[in-house]
Amino acid sequence: MKIIRLPHAMSRWSDRLRREGVTIGLVPTMGALHDGHRALIKAARLQCDALVVSIFVNPTQFSPNEDLSRYPRPIAKDRALCRGEGVDVCFEPDAGAMYPEGFQTIVTVPVVAQHWEGASRPHHFAGVATVVTKLFSIVRPHVTLFGQKDFQQAALIRRLIRDLNLGIDLIVPDTIREPDGLAMSSRNIYLTPFQRRAAPTFHQALLIGRTAVETGLRDSRSIEQRMRHVIGREPTMSVDYLAICDPETLEPLTRIERRAVILGAVRIGSVRLLDNMMVAVKPRR
Ligand code: PAF
Repeated sequence: MKIIRLPHAMSRWSDRLRREGVTIGLVPTMGALHDGHRALIKAARLQCDALVVSIFVNPTQFSPNEDLSRYPRPIAKDRALCRGEGVDVCFEPDAGAMYPEGFQTIVTVPVVAQHWEGASRPHHFAGVATVVTKLFSIVRPHVTLFGQKDFQQAALIRRLIRDLNLGIDLIVPDTIREPDGLAMSSRNIYLTPFQRRAAPTFHQALLIGRTAVETGLRDSRSIEQRMRHVIGREPTMSVDYLAICDPETLEPLTRIERRAVILGAVRIGSVRLLDNMMVAVKPRR
């Protein structure tokens, strides 16, 4: 496995392979890789001949009060995971290479970014859209994979690829979960053992939401109330947002008529957890 740090060296490697007709896949990450990333990397391996995993803790998607400085950076472990999964290149630029002096271009996808995570973390998605656009320009992949846990992020990347005619195939595999249902995330390591035991309540609430839809409830507010009731039973957990939305536009729905996604973020202490659940109304026979 090659480790490439400089953007121009990364592009040179990709250009050579592209000329040889090799299909390139990219899994963008911020490192602290877990089994959720491993599943993405395995899925990516099946979609391309040459696989690049980028590891870059992107400063522009953190606001000043967030966890940039303490974000985990276990680079040796991350490389070992990549090596074990047959990754061809770990692209590990530093902040100076990605944002050299004078850098000023910002990519925004304003409508997809306006609600939910975008409202809770105002500059987050501009940082994500900008760095992902840069990663796409540097690595020049044919295919890229993003996890479904960050549903709004994946929707934003889908829009970005379409709007900018990037011609990259986006694959969004299902969220990988711990056996008790907690969605895997690099930030789960911040949970104390006590908080970790409480955390699956979030997934249970989403399951209650899905069951409500499956048993005929259509009114979003009532479904939301059922989920809030479950979360309310866990004293350490508070809701940041819970929303039932159109899966394409992410606009809130007052009633579920067909497909919808339940998006949510909760806090346990200072840890913020994200998760979501697709729901669908079954057609009447
Ligand atoms: O999901 C992440 O880890 C990050 O937001 C991403 C896509 C790697 C951009 O920094």
